[in-house]
Amino acid sequence: MGTVTLRVTGARKAYHGTAGDTIVFRDVDLTVSRGEIYVLLGPSGCGKSTLLRVIAGLESATAGQVEIAPSEGAEQRARPVGVAFQDPLLLPWLTVAENVALGLRFGANRWAWTAEAIDGILGDFGLDTVRDAYPAEISGGQAQRANLGRAIVTRPRILLCDEPFGALDPRTRAAMQDWLLGIVRARGLTVVLVTHDVDEALYLGDHIGLMTRGPGTIAHVWNLRDGRDGEAERRGALREAATVRAEIMASYQSDVPIDANAPNWVI
Ligand SMILES: Nc1ncnc2c1ncn2[C@@H]1O[C@H](COP(=O)(O)OP(=O)(O)O)[C@@H](O)[C@H]1O
Ligand SMILES: [Mg+2]
Repeated sequence: MGTVTLRVTGARKAYHGTAGDTIVFRDVDLTVSRGEIYVLLGPSGCGKSTLLRVIAGLESATAGQVEIAPSEGAEQRARPVGVAFQDPLLLPWLTVAENVALGLRFGANRWAWTAEAIDGILGDFGLDTVRDAYPAEISGGQAQRANLGRAIVTRPRILLCDEPFGALDPRTRAAMQDWLLGIVRARGLTVVLVTHDVDEALYLGDHIGLMTRGPGTIAHVWNLRDGRDGEAERRGALREAATVRAEIMASYQSDVPIDANAPNWVI
């Protein structure tokens, strides 16, 4: 295991409501080392997106801690965390290049704005040919790449992705998974990625955490690799992952309430 980049300890999130406090998640612990991908699986409503927002600092935890290892040198001024939400949320009146550049135009990131930074992202993300196109003119895969590009143009060390490939067809999705692995390697990113797809979790995840409801917590963790395997090893490991896959499916069945509308705990 390498240097720990992100550590969440005893995290809990509750919202106040008229019927009392609703606990979204509780007792969440996770550790991700530099260069690793931690995949969060879990049924809708178990608190995955809320957990990502808490890690990103967009919401505070009710209890517990989110620790991000301090950065060094030039990285120090960069925001440590970039977030790509499930919906690409590109601004329709801006071109692809302008959407990607958006993160560099404001506040803390203004110092990092350079045409090279944006050209670098557009090149790495295969978006050169559509740089002047508007969001309505590009494919779903391109929109999702622009979304991820905007999240990492600020040079964060940690990338949080919420079901980034959920809306893509299977072939585009597989290509995007390989592409993401390449980007993560090339940029030394540490990733927390939410998905509903067990095979995607097995392919991308160095660690897989299964969140369950009632209220959400990480009920099982599978430690598969340490972030160094290449694509061939990943494909190979995927074939050998039948056992883990069976364990994940069994855990889903035994731990997850069948009722899709099952409420969170109310205290
Ligand atoms: N601001 C909020 N106020 C009250 N409840 C919320 C708020 N945000 C999320 N929740 C509740 O937290 C639960 C988990 O939501 P979410 O994190 O979106 O789950 P997931 O991403 O796993 O589907 C849901 O039941 C949702 O209604
Ligand atoms: Mg969600």
